[in-house]
Amino acid sequence: MTQGIKKAIFPAAGLGTRFLPATKASPKEMLPIVDKPMIQYGVEEALACHLNEIVIITGKHKRSIEDHFDHSFELEAKLKKSGKKKLIEEINRLNKINIAYIRQGYALGLGHAISRARPFIKDEPFAVILSDDIIPPEESLLKDMVRLYKELKCPILALEKVPMSEIHRYGVIDGVKEEDGVYRVNNLVEKPDAEHAPSDLAILGRYILTPDIFDVLDKSKPGRGGEIQLTDAIGALLKSRRVYGYLFKGKRYDAGDKFGYLKATIDFALKNSEVSEPFSQYLFEVTKKLRQSAASS
Ligand code: UTP
Repeated sequence: MTQGIKKAIFPAAGLGTRFLPATKASPKEMLPIVDKPMIQYGVEEALACHLNEIVIITGKHKRSIEDHFDHSFELEAKLKKSGKKKLIEEINRLNKINIAYIRQGYALGLGHAISRARPFIKDEPFAVILSDDIIPPEESLLKDMVRLYKELKCPILALEKVPMSEIHRYGVIDGVKEEDGVYRVNNLVEKPDAEHAPSDLAILGRYILTPDIFDVLDKSKPGRGGEIQLTDAIGALLKSRRVYGYLFKGKRYDAGDKFGYLKATIDFALKNSEVSEPFSQYLFEVTKKLRQSAASS
């Protein structure tokens, strides 16, 4: 088995029900955070870790993802005519990324989406990136996970400590700390209620997996919500190999959820050179009004 990681799977075939009606006919992954669609942040994160072979799992109403990473001759001609060199460069960069697409006919769950990528991954270890978990480019989570994989040669799940009031939204591990930030996983539970959660260590949308997961996924039965769950398959994998968790302490936005999406938009806008100044002035005025109305009520 080749040990270096070159490949990344982007499951993007989900129905995005938390963003309806916006996601009725357009992909959630194409919702912009300021001026880039969510999936582009994830793709750039993968490329920064030299994961240059990318497969996106798509489904119905997802064609705009393919168009986004392809030439737009009309647009390029127009930008050329108006001398917008920087924008042309920015757009051409997207066309050069090596991306394959595989359709998931029915949204049968994250585990099922990943199993579709088997012919692309073959017998190599690979990363999984859920693009609605946005990690700012200055964070090194994926790089750290790739480095840890080289050492451990085992699947690695990104973990975050979350408040128990939110634990029901995540896959959660039962694990033992082996060294600073590294946990040996003993068990996993998908979306437990706070009473039954084995810990406050939630799995977030970055994984390094090994190809033996595909045999497990092929045998997996639908779990929670009638979906083929990745968490269940990793749980079954624990019978035959070690799995580790890597605790992330940096900034992450759950942009698959409206509140997380808005927080990401605000923080990224405050860092965007084009709008940061007028936007922070606007936020200042909004918060001033909010404080005044809170003081007078
Ligand atoms: P989510 O749990 O966020 O589901 O999926 P969703 O459908 O995107 O959104 P909601 O919960 O209905 O609002 C996590 C990731 O797995 C992908 C999604 O596209 C998302 O990137 N996924 C999920 C698939 O590719 N296929 C599936 O069958 C389910």
